[in-house]
Amino acid sequence: MINKEEIKRLAAVQAMEQVRAGMTLGVGTGSTVYWFILELAKQVKQGLSVTCVPTSAATASLATQLGIRLVTLNEVSKLDLTIDGADEIDPQLCLIKGGGGALLQEKMVAAASDKLVIIADGSKKVQQLGRFPLPVEVIPYGWKQVQQHIAFTNDVVVLLRMKNDLPLITDHGHYILDCQFNAITDAAKLAVVLNTIPGVVENGLFINMASMAIIAHEDGSIETILAP
Ligand code: 5RP
Repeated sequence: MINKEEIKRLAAVQAMEQVRAGMTLGVGTGSTVYWFILELAKQVKQGLSVTCVPTSAATASLATQLGIRLVTLNEVSKLDLTIDGADEIDPQLCLIKGGGGALLQEKMVAAASDKLVIIADGSKKVQQLGRFPLPVEVIPYGWKQVQQHIAFTNDVVVLLRMKNDLPLITDHGHYILDCQFNAITDAAKLAVVLNTIPGVVENGLFINMASMAIIAHEDGSIETILAP
């Protein structure tokens, strides 16, 4: 059995197989993508030429430190590929994302990409989405109204995400409401309903966006799942 960080690294190394010279590449956020950024930086040092769009300030900072050339989403017409992590992955490759608070930028970058490849350890695979609290990004103004709206409409516990005793502020100046659905039966419908609530900026459901998931397991094996 190998440790969790090594499992994540294995998935990240495997994802490098998807990267080709000349690509415009979306670079996700999180502890699994951390390993991908390290691998990518190694190859860039050896001469690989890619143009990268980061999905968060944290990713931008690490990538820049490691010498990876970055551009903004506005500087590209589309991306060839995005590599990102996920908090939950169902058999259809529908996802919950946003555990790291970067869901808005991650969804915009993924939506502009020809291909979204998810890297994760086996613990992220689920039969049904919803055990992981669904992150919903909201504007700070009147956030309690949005909290009530989500909680009453769906009968779920909705908590404001905190950091050091203060509301967590996203890269785009918003708050995050973590919604404990436990089981999400119609993720596509929920994603639409949540985004119609005034004050909601984006939700962490990524439906029909990922085309492949690379899942590394405790025994060192790697599973590749393709979208149906
Ligand atoms: C950040 C995300 C991450 O991709 C997700 O939280 C998975 O992160 P990790 O690889 O650290 O488990 O959506 O907003």
